[in-house]
Amino acid sequence: MIELRGVHKQLGDRQILAGLDLAVPKGMNYVLMGPSGSGKSVTLRHIIGILRPDAGTVLVDGQNVAAMDRTQLMALRKRMGYLFQNGALINWLSVVENVSLPLREHSRLSRHEVHDRAMAVLKTVGLEQAADQFPPSISGGMKLRAGLARALVTQPEYVLYDEPNAGLDPIISRQIHELIVEVRDRLGVTGLIVTHSRACATHCGDRIGILDQGRIGIEGTVAEMTAQDHPLAKAFLGGGAD
Ligand SMILES: Nc1ncnc2c1ncn2[C@@H]1O[C@H](COP(=O)(O)OP(=O)(O)O)[C@@H](O)[C@H]1O
Ligand SMILES: [Mg+2]
Repeated sequence: MIELRGVHKQLGDRQILAGLDLAVPKGMNYVLMGPSGSGKSVTLRHIIGILRPDAGTVLVDGQNVAAMDRTQLMALRKRMGYLFQNGALINWLSVVENVSLPLREHSRLSRHEVHDRAMAVLKTVGLEQAADQFPPSISGGMKLRAGLARALVTQPEYVLYDEPNAGLDPIISRQIHELIVEVRDRLGVTGLIVTHSRACATHCGDRIGILDQGRIGIEGTVAEMTAQDHPLAKAFLGGGAD
């Protein structure tokens, strides 16, 4: 379980997180929504220990992330995949080399084993044919799949998805949503998904929380949230939302 308790964080002169409480139990996809600049990515960066809270605690399976040393952080990041916006691939490495990177860094597997594991994950995301292509020559949807493969290659228990469908058309987005659901159901991965998209939230999510002024303004199951009268829920999940 991922748990944030009373997390405060100031960046520059702005109080970004102001007592954020958030709990993501194992096995679910939790969707975190909120306006641009409200601190969604900042929240994810606290969970992998890139940022430390000014006050409050971030716990992963009961362990305090801010108190971890380098070795413990490395171990945490192995258990926690991170899907960056646009996949964040390295352009001069092929798709399979990109996907292999976390295993090169975090495991003692042989080159051969690393390649086999990377190919197996590429198959999971439907990208085996593109293994030897380079990121500049593949589509946005394929980049995202490759980024997801890289997030999954260490067989993490958690995946943090930062705007997994930004810039993708509705058809490709839908395929990505289906993959995210599959990752939960077939691989048993717990997900924390940051998105603006109502389609992504309702298709992939079990619970939805909306950030407002540095805290969760409103939270509930997908069914509760789509039926909500609360202005925040209406803004992100109501009739006019996309
Ligand atoms: N390293 C940083 N230094 C100063 N300000 C930052 C830093 N990282 C993020 N911010 C600011 O924090 C706010 C929240 O950022 P972010 O979490 O990226 O928003 P979003 O909800 O769109 O993901 C933004 O106003 C951003 O400019
Ligand atoms: Mg962001």
